[in-house]
Amino acid sequence: NWTMDDFIEMKIDDIRKEVGDKKVILGLSGGVDSSVTATLLHKAIGQQLTCIFVDHGMLRKDEGDQVMKALNKDLGVNIIRVNAADRFLGKLKGVTDPEKKRKIIGKEFIEVFNEEAKKLNDVDFLAQGTLYTDVIESGTNTAQTIKSHHNVGGLPKDMHFKLIEPLRKLFKDEVRELGEKLSSTHDLLWRQPFPGPGLGIRVLGEVTPDKLKIVRESDAILREEIRKAGLQEKIWQYFTVLPGIRSVGVMGDGRTYDYTIGIRAVTSIDGMTADFAQIPWDVLGHISDRIVNEVDNVNRVVYDVTSKPPSTIEWE
Ligand code: XMP
Repeated sequence: NWTMDDFIEMKIDDIRKEVGDKKVILGLSGGVDSSVTATLLHKAIGQQLTCIFVDHGMLRKDEGDQVMKALNKDLGVNIIRVNAADRFLGKLKGVTDPEKKRKIIGKEFIEVFNEEAKKLNDVDFLAQGTLYTDVIESGTNTAQTIKSHHNVGGLPKDMHFKLIEPLRKLFKDEVRELGEKLSSTHDLLWRQPFPGPGLGIRVLGEVTPDKLKIVRESDAILREEIRKAGLQEKIWQYFTVLPGIRSVGVMGDGRTYDYTIGIRAVTSIDGMTADFAQIPWDVLGHISDRIVNEVDNVNRVVYDVTSKPPSTIEWE
C-alpha cells in the first residue's frame, strides 16, 4: 500500500535508472495524461526530455498557449510546438465523412510527430501516458495500448524506441492526484475530456477555417458562462457544435440567413452513457444571447436534450 509521495519518489528513481544519460521524446496532446507524464519525466530527467506538441489547428480557444504556459514557461519542460494547422486543413479539404476525418487527423498527427522525432538525434526512449485502463482494455501487448488520436501508433520501422509508461499502474483519478502533487496547474488537470480530433468533429461535415472560428468562439463563450455559473465541475462535458444548416432570423431591420449553433452538455461517469445536463434556463438564455451577439454568422442557438444512448456525446 503506497502513498502518492512514495510513488513519485519510486518512479523518479526508476526513470533515472532506466534512462541513464539517454534522451526521451514524448508526444504531448495537451490532455491530462500526457501532461502529467511530461511533468513527472521532467522532474526525473529535466532537459533529457523533449516533448513534441502537434497543434493541429483544431484546439479550443487559447488552448495551445495555455499548455505552453503551464508546462514550458512555468515548469521549464522542453517542448517543440509544431503549428501544423494548414497542413491538417489541407488534408481535410472536401472531406465530410466523420470517420474519414478522424482517420486523416490521426494519420497526419503521427506523420507530423515522426517528422519532428526524426530531426532529433540519439533518442532512445519514447514516453507515453498509458493508464491502467488502457492496459486492461488492450491486453498485455503494449503496441495495442496506443490510442490512435493522441500518439504514435504508427512509428516507422526504422525508429527503434524503448517505451516508457510511468502511469501504467494508475487510474485517472490517481493521475490527477499525482499531477496535483507535481504542481501541474489545477485547471489543466481538471479540464473536461477533449477528443483527439478536436474541433474537427464539432464542425459537422467539411472543416473550414471560417467554420472552425465559429465553433471555437461559441465554445469559448459557453465555457466562460458555465464556469461563471459554478457548473464547471458538475457537468462532465460541454461544448458547441456547428451543423451545416442555416436558418432565417431577424436582426435590427434586416432578415438574416445564418448558421445555427448546437449546445451539448452532459453528465456522465465514464462517457459510456450520459444524460443531458439540466442547465438552468436563465444560464442557457444568457449563453444564447452572447453567442448570437458576439459570434458572426450565427442567428440561432439550440440545446441538445438527448441522452446517450441513443445519441452519442459528440455529434460526429
Ligand atoms: P461519444 O461521442 O462516442 O464520445 O459518445 C464518448 C467520449 O469519447 C470522446 N470521443 C473521442 N475521443 N477521439 C478521442 O480521443 C475521438 O475520435 C473521439 N470521439 C469521441 C468524446 O469527446 C466523449 O468524451
